Amino acid sequence: MKTMKFISTTFAVLLLGMASCVQKPENPEAAIEQKVDALLSQMTLEEKIGQMNQISSYGNIEDMTELIKKGEIGSILNEVDPGRINALQRVAVKESRLGIPLLMARDVIHGFKTIFPIPLGQAASFDPQVAEDGARVAAIEASSVGIRWTFSPMIDVARDPRWGRIAEGCGEDTYLTSVMGAAMVKGYQGDSLNDPTAIAACPKHFVGYGAAEGGRDYNSTFIPERRLRNVYLPPFEAAAKAGAATFMTSFNDNDGIPSTGNTFILRNVLREEWGFDGIVVTDWASAAEMMNHGFAADEKEVAMKAVNAGVDMEMVSYTFVKELPRLVKEGKVQEATIDNAVRNILRIKYRLGLFDQPYVDENKQVMYAPAHLDAARRAAVESAILLKNEKQVLPLGNAIKTVAVIGPMADAPYEQMGTWVFDGEKSHTVTPLAAIRKQFGDKLQILYEPGLSYSRDRNTSDIAKAVSAASRADVILAFVGEEAILSGEAHCLADLNLQGAQSELIEAVAKTGKPLVTVVMAGRPLTIGKETELSDAVLYMFHPGTMGGPALADLLWGKAVPSGKTPVTFPKMVGQIPVYYAHNNTGRPATKKETLLDDIQVEAGQTSLGCTSFYMDAGFDPLFPFGYGLSYTTFAYSNIKLSATELKKDDVLTVTFDLENTGNYEGTEIAQLYVQDKVGSVTRPVKELKRFSRITLKPGEKKSVSFELPVSELAFWNIDMKHVVEAGDFNLWVAPDSQSGSPISFKVTD
Ligand code: GLC
Repeated sequence: MKTMKFISTTFAVLLLGMASCVQKPENPEAAIEQKVDALLSQMTLEEKIGQMNQISSYGNIEDMTELIKKGEIGSILNEVDPGRINALQRVAVKESRLGIPLLMARDVIHGFKTIFPIPLGQAASFDPQVAEDGARVAAIEASSVGIRWTFSPMIDVARDPRWGRIAEGCGEDTYLTSVMGAAMVKGYQGDSLNDPTAIAACPKHFVGYGAAEGGRDYNSTFIPERRLRNVYLPPFEAAAKAGAATFMTSFNDNDGIPSTGNTFILRNVLREEWGFDGIVVTDWASAAEMMNHGFAADEKEVAMKAVNAGVDMEMVSYTFVKELPRLVKEGKVQEATIDNAVRNILRIKYRLGLFDQPYVDENKQVMYAPAHLDAARRAAVESAILLKNEKQVLPLGNAIKTVAVIGPMADAPYEQMGTWVFDGEKSHTVTPLAAIRKQFGDKLQILYEPGLSYSRDRNTSDIAKAVSAASRADVILAFVGEEAILSGEAHCLADLNLQGAQSELIEAVAKTGKPLVTVVMAGRPLTIGKETELSDAVLYMFHPGTMGGPALADLLWGKAVPSGKTPVTFPKMVGQIPVYYAHNNTGRPATKKETLLDDIQVEAGQTSLGCTSFYMDAGFDPLFPFGYGLSYTTFAYSNIKLSATELKKDDVLTVTFDLENTGNYEGTEIAQLYVQDKVGSVTRPVKELKRFSRITLKPGEKKSVSFELPVSELAFWNIDMKHVVEAGDFNLWVAPDSQSGSPISFKVTD
């Protein structure tokens, strides 16, 4: 027996020995960690801190060379010339002591050269493929000049259209923003970060920035933890799960703590709960701005609070380089903290393959490739929202022989691109006027009279020309909206009516009695109730980008059929804000039968109007609800069935329904699934979007559609701050928008 044991033991030892000398297939991540640690061990404290420093490119290469040679710069933003980028990289790689490559960054928010609809427009498509494709095109174009990091997607849930940055996000809904944001991350980063066309994504602005009080940018927010976790954090968690390589801190102080110094969100949530191992970068000077906030007394305290809270890299305010060496020596910042920050930075640089391939091919030509323009056109088509179409004035048919094209947005190539465009060129924008002339110039008489020179123009002297053109036309196409500068960062408005004399223009041409199609291009929902009343049809395009014109021509003449839905609620008037669909019910919900201002009797009794939550001058409902949009055809929902009406917490609910195209055009419906948790340990929204799907049907076609909804997705952060599903009664809607449909009840049991 002993012999057998000896042989078996020897054999086992031999096997082990063989195994250990056979090269284990290298785990790429483990290999990167080894390289990071090896490099880190060679770095001086100053070189480590240099990696944590990001500057915005300026002047000549020589101006930055000394800093790069010293190892004082880890990343540069706003350099887009491939020759300069290679020159800067050569200095870093060949002339600095350790040759660590730079990470070149840019705000590539909705396209680099080929400009896609602004993100709010992409969200209106409810099509994650549109978001992914747009990000992929942006990555291919941006990486071709050497950019490997974009500060996008912006996934701040925003419910206040006074806030100019509502343009940059995916609207008011947590679920829609989560789906679209994760798709953008996938598009930017591709299948692997070390693919040379991959650029590191940067979900921003972490977190709660969209809740700026009063919709005034940079203003304080007051979001309690439960609302933060139920509404504002989930899109960022989805982006982290999608593998986002970096995160950016937001400007706002939430409940008195600026995000750039907020340990709870940067360490407890992002690192410990979500396991994020990428780079946390500040927003532009948001570290130093903690002094303006009154959260740090000086740059030394800025650097200490930011680094100890979990920031890895400082954008442009330079306090890390200036103050961290002293803070480490004084023991106010541990060198281990610095090491972890630098690990995160080096890890992403290795994952991007920058150490192996720091340079870019300076002769690569990919800009405005036909495939890119096609993707942008498709995105613009899918982002268009048909808000009104009476008497089926759209699509325009062969009876139309003369078209009046009016309004300041009909031929505004720069404005059409929208906010956050640094590298797109207006010379490549195809405007509606240009597209209509190109597609129909030989068949139609096109009378072009803008009437106003730009959206804020108050000079009404040319409106008469627009009226004259309108009176000679079979249909009026009025292109109004906002110049690009009127939305985006720091561009907030207290009044959301059409700017300038645009409303007068619409009123004037409407008086001709000709069919009036109003097309709005804007960066936010506008209070267009009056203009909608005056128009026979209204098509809304959140700044549609380079190919907005051809998309609109396709839509207006029926080559494409509108399918977009509102990603954000349209208020009747600015006083209704905040107004959004996933609101709480309150103890006195509006009945929507309230007596409104003009109907109130004189000397009406004090309690005669009832005591419910509404506005006497605006009622309760918005102008257009979330998820709303028409088509040239119509759809019927029927036969809605649940796989069960009593479910356990680990069950999956299957909802099936029939959708029929009951009209005359092939069209795409965005069917939506909403759920209400009727009673919770805390109050719950009256409904929340849980699924959506784009379904294309031919006229008369009927399809059975199903949604799979794990009961676990009904979890929320409850009274005990636990993320749980609570047993009880639920309602469910399958509907074309957030206000339609009838509830179907089901139970969840323990
Ligand atoms: C800006 C913006 C941020 C942007 C950054 C770099 O202030 O807040 O979204 O990415 O600075 O341009």
